[in-house]
Amino acid sequence: MTGYFIAFEGGEGVGKSTQEALLADYLTQQGHVVLRTREPGGTPAAEQIRDTVLSRAHEGMNPQSEALLFAAARGDHVARVVRPALARGDVIISDRYIDSSISYQGYARALGADRIKDLSMWATGGLLPDLTIVMALDPEVSMKRVVNPDRLESEPMQYHRDVADAFLEIAAQDPNRYLIVDAAGTKEESARVIRERVMQELN
Ligand SMILES: Nc1ncnc2c1ncn2[C@@H]1O[C@H](COP(=O)(O)OP(=O)(O)OP(=O)(O)O)[C@@H](O)[C@H]1O
Ligand SMILES: [Mg+2]
Repeated sequence: MTGYFIAFEGGEGVGKSTQEALLADYLTQQGHVVLRTREPGGTPAAEQIRDTVLSRAHEGMNPQSEALLFAAARGDHVARVVRPALARGDVIISDRYIDSSISYQGYARALGADRIKDLSMWATGGLLPDLTIVMALDPEVSMKRVVNPDRLESEPMQYHRDVADAFLEIAAQDPNRYLIVDAAGTKEESARVIRERVMQELN
């Protein structure tokens, strides 16, 4: 039995959590067993790494160290939560995954997309989502929705523009495995687009 792995990606405040909740409720009503999880995090060890890497106490952290911490958290999450859930046949909905590392550390911190992807592929034994949903919204709009910004959310606007551009560039390379959602519409409009694509893939 094999499950189905969905990742939500996009900048801060674009509506990922909102859409994850709506999709999880819908799929549960449809009779699927849904596991909602998040990155960095999803296991006790990875949640501790999350606290460290996002803390504003660590302003100016070495970018390479930041990238390694995200990959370390991801490896534990995949080995101990995502793979077991896939083996049970669940639908996994993850708030962020590899493409966040590629966009934030690979592109916006200029560490190199290929190197950052390789690092996560090594950490996870090469697990990629079946479908990645990229929520696209102008950072000038989405950043106004963020309250109590963490360390990465406190980066300058150009950083968030680079991140948003990177997500679109990655998604455009493989339309079969990505859905780009225009997140400027209402919550219901985005939910309908996401639901249609996911049901098409699951059937
Ligand atoms: N389509 C929408 N139109 C207007 N506001 C929205 C829309 N979707 C979500 N919001 C609101 O924007 C805020 C951010 O949404 P949400 O928390 O879902 O985003 P997020 O991508 O998960 O953010 P974060 O990166 O901080 O986790 C919330 O207050 C939410 O209610
Ligand atoms: Mg969220």
